[in-house]
Amino acid sequence: MGFAGGISESEAGMPSGGKATIPLIPRIGSQLMIDKAALLSGRHAAQIRALLVERGVVVMRGLGVDDEELRTIARSLGELRIGKARRGADGAVLAEGDGGVLRVTLDETRNPEYARFLFGNQLWHMDGTYEEVPPFATLLAPVRLSNRGGDTLFANTCAAFADLPEEEQRRLEKLRVVHTMQAALFPAKRDCTVEEFALWSSYPQRSHPLVWQHRSGARSLVLSTSGAYVEGMEPAESHDLLQRLMIHATQEQYVYRHKWQPGDLAIWDNTGTMHRVEPFDRESGRELHRCTLNGEEPVTAPA
Ligand SMILES: [Fe+2]
Repeated sequence: MGFAGGISESEAGMPSGGKATIPLIPRIGSQLMIDKAALLSGRHAAQIRALLVERGVVVMRGLGVDDEELRTIARSLGELRIGKARRGADGAVLAEGDGGVLRVTLDETRNPEYARFLFGNQLWHMDGTYEEVPPFATLLAPVRLSNRGGDTLFANTCAAFADLPEEEQRRLEKLRVVHTMQAALFPAKRDCTVEEFALWSSYPQRSHPLVWQHRSGARSLVLSTSGAYVEGMEPAESHDLLQRLMIHATQEQYVYRHKWQPGDLAIWDNTGTMHRVEPFDRESGRELHRCTLNGEEPVTAPA
């Protein structure tokens, strides 16, 4: 078995018929004790989906999945996204990746379409906030790691919302936020060119409720650096509110830091978490392969 960290099954939670799990920190993240064959069989997909909703992030160690195995695991958990090619303002094709697997790397020779957007990953974000139905989950497996930096951090936006005073929760539930690509990327690249800014601005904007009432019953803050402004609010007030909520939601108790090891697989519920990567050496060739699962429910405000 690919158990890592020297933790025996007897120390871990063991649901009947399911694989053992270990909480990573109290408020977010679980390690799932599973080997590759069991994972590829799809028999534990229901447990993994439930764990994603409950814990936000599921980490597995010692698997070493290749691209085809990554696709198989993704398909067992939901609908694998095969991205549509689209063109940016400069005419470049912005494809989603090879058969549903995207190379997450800053190396433009390995991913010419996306390398120039991925620097924005260093800021807290959700994926796909420009879409009506944001992706449900993301799977990420390392191919090459950096020696320094490159940890991925995850923040639980359900727990962050649950801890707010009830009066504030009710107030936030009435608000909507407009998400834009330029809001997401400009803070990460303030020395951008006029052409880059024009490209980012060519992406569609999307308005979402600030609070998501999930079908699971959970409520989460729909926060991301892509959040440009709160509809109908004075700009300064809107800015302060979004900044304050971002600071609140990324406090230590809501954040799991994943230190990558070769062979890892991390899966997260994109709808109830944010993520970001710690800065790393661009020359390291750091590369992870990503599959995305299509969203299953639109962002819906509480009734
Ligand atoms: Fe992302």
